[in-house]
Amino acid sequence: MKPQSVKKRTLIAPSVLAANFADLQHDIAAAEKAGADLFHLDIMDGHFVPNISFGPEMVQTVHRLTSLPLDTHLMIENPDQYLEDFKKAGTTRLIVHVEVCRHLHRTISEIRSLGMLPGVSLNPATPLSSIEEILPFVDLVLVMSVNPGFGGQKFIQESLNKIQRLRTMLDSRGINAFIEVDGGVSALNAAAIVEAGADILVAGSAIFGAKDIRGALSAIRTKISSKEL
Ligand code: DX5
Ligand code: ZN
Repeated sequence: MKPQSVKKRTLIAPSVLAANFADLQHDIAAAEKAGADLFHLDIMDGHFVPNISFGPEMVQTVHRLTSLPLDTHLMIENPDQYLEDFKKAGTTRLIVHVEVCRHLHRTISEIRSLGMLPGVSLNPATPLSSIEEILPFVDLVLVMSVNPGFGGQKFIQESLNKIQRLRTMLDSRGINAFIEVDGGVSALNAAAIVEAGADILVAGSAIFGAKDIRGALSAIRTKISSKEL
C-alpha cells in the first residue's frame, strides 16, 4: 500500500497584546471564530525588555474566555520565580528566553514537570548555536523576528534564513519541536515564513489591529495554505 502523505497544517496564534483590552471577550471570540488555533500572551517586565505588559492574571482571564490552548511568552528577567503562577493561570505552553536562563535545562525541565509544554525563545541577534543543546528537551522554539518588547514592528528579513537553518537542524537530528515565529508577521510575509519552515505563526497587529479580525486572519490562512506540504 502506498504511504499516505500527511498534510501539514500551520497554526495561527493571535497575540493578545494587540487586542482591545476594554473588550477582550469580543476580540477573543472573533479570533476564535475566524479559526485561530491558539492564543499568544506576551509577558514583559520592563527589565529584559523596555516595556511592561501584563501578568498571570491576564492569562487567567483569557483562559476563562476560550478553550483554545494558550502560549505564554515570558520576556522577563527571572522566569524561574513565576513558573507555577503561569501554570495556575492555565497556560498550555510556557516559553522562556535563552538570554536570561543561566540554567536553561533546569528551567525547561521544571516547566515540563509542572505539566506545561516548554519552549525556548531567542532574540534576533542570538545565534542558533545557543539553543543547540536544549533542542531535544523542548516542545517548540520561538524565533523572534523583531527585537522583543513591542507589537507592530517590522519583520527582520534575515529571520527567514535563521528559520531555514533551524528547520535543517531539527530535521537532521530527527527532533519534532515546532518552529514558532513572532514579530511583524502579516499576510504579506506569512507564505515566505511557512516556506522557510515555520509551524506556528504569531500575529498581533496584523490580526487585532485590523477592523475586520475575521478577514485579517483568513487572509493569513489563505496565503499560507498554498505553502503547506
Ligand atoms: C513582541 C512580542 C510579540 C508581539 C507581536 O515582543 O513578543 O508577540 O505581540 O506583535 P506584532 O505581530 O504586531 O509584531
Ligand atoms: Zn511574543
